[in-house]
Amino acid sequence: MTDIPSQTEAALAAIAASATLDALEAQRLETLGKKGWVSLALKTLGGMNPEERTAAAPAIQSARAAIAEALDAKKAALEAAALEEQLARETIDLTLPAQAAPKGSVHPVSQVMDELAEIFADLGFAVATGPEIEDDWHNFTALNMDETHPARAMHDTFYFPDKTAEGKDVLLRTHTSPVQIRSMLDQGAPIRIIAPGRVYRSDSDATHTPMFHQVEGLVIDKDIHLGHLKWTLETFFKAFFEREDIVLRLRPSYFPFTEPSVEVDVGYSNEGGRRVVGGHGDAPGHAWMEIGGSGMVNARVLEFAGLDPAEWQGFAFGLGIDRIAMLKYGMNDLRAFFDGDPRWLAHYGFSPFDQPTLSAGVGARA
Ligand code: DAH
Repeated sequence: MTDIPSQTEAALAAIAASATLDALEAQRLETLGKKGWVSLALKTLGGMNPEERTAAAPAIQSARAAIAEALDAKKAALEAAALEEQLARETIDLTLPAQAAPKGSVHPVSQVMDELAEIFADLGFAVATGPEIEDDWHNFTALNMDETHPARAMHDTFYFPDKTAEGKDVLLRTHTSPVQIRSMLDQGAPIRIIAPGRVYRSDSDATHTPMFHQVEGLVIDKDIHLGHLKWTLETFFKAFFEREDIVLRLRPSYFPFTEPSVEVDVGYSNEGGRRVVGGHGDAPGHAWMEIGGSGMVNARVLEFAGLDPAEWQGFAFGLGIDRIAMLKYGMNDLRAFFDGDPRWLAHYGFSPFDQPTLSAGVGARA
């Protein structure tokens, strides 16, 4: 056995030279471990007589203390270096643009619904909603279409097999008009609402899908007349299409829930094979296109909804949201709206940050 001071010196040098935590642990085992030379030397003290022990102990004790301190210090240094190295390796440069991240986009129908709400809110309309699973009383009867009314057959209704507790048929609403009834029953009059949402009809081709979107409008007050209706729709379409030359034509028509009823046409022209809204429909190169139904709310509907027609009157309208979205953003196949193809959405969708506001332009594109 070599002398303790030189063994200690060699151990301290080996500890200092350890480049890894594993190498350092090997040094610990060789010295302070159960079978390390320091531990074995300490054990020999027990077999010595007091004089021998007094002579030998200080060297061994100080070797142990020096080595333990060196091991601790080196361990701390190696751990700090490992942390520094890991931090350097895992650094994220937060100044890099997030281009690589997948980006969601807002569907044109959602965007147009937001645009509608924004424009009509400015005109004092609140947004109302109703259930998509309706009963036939709200969808038909209260809208002046009793069981035998021929207009019911025109709606290609999806019925559920079960009936309500009161024995009413249950169906997928065929239009947003039942929200008129629900809003009047809930709020009474006066009232000024729009009700955008999904509607369902058993119908499918290039211009019809079994589910599509409508927006209903309803104004009930005193002294309301067709002039208010025409101004409201004209003001809406000017803001929506962001052009002043919108010309509407009201054409006499029939809906059970309005009296009188009118169909609303808008003047347009063909530009590059695409319909562009604007101008008088009878002007050269122009024509009329139907964009919605409307009229003065039928007195029978007011009665069904609990209002006195001698006191209250108003107008209602219904527009196809998909239709006006296609016109505004130049899409030509309705079916693509509901295919969920990410390439179509990437092309026609909107940035979530592109919130429609009246001041920035409701149709601003990112
Ligand atoms: N509910 C009608 C439909 O889906 C559209 C409609 C026409 C709504 C005239 C109205 C209205 O509010 O007054 O065909």
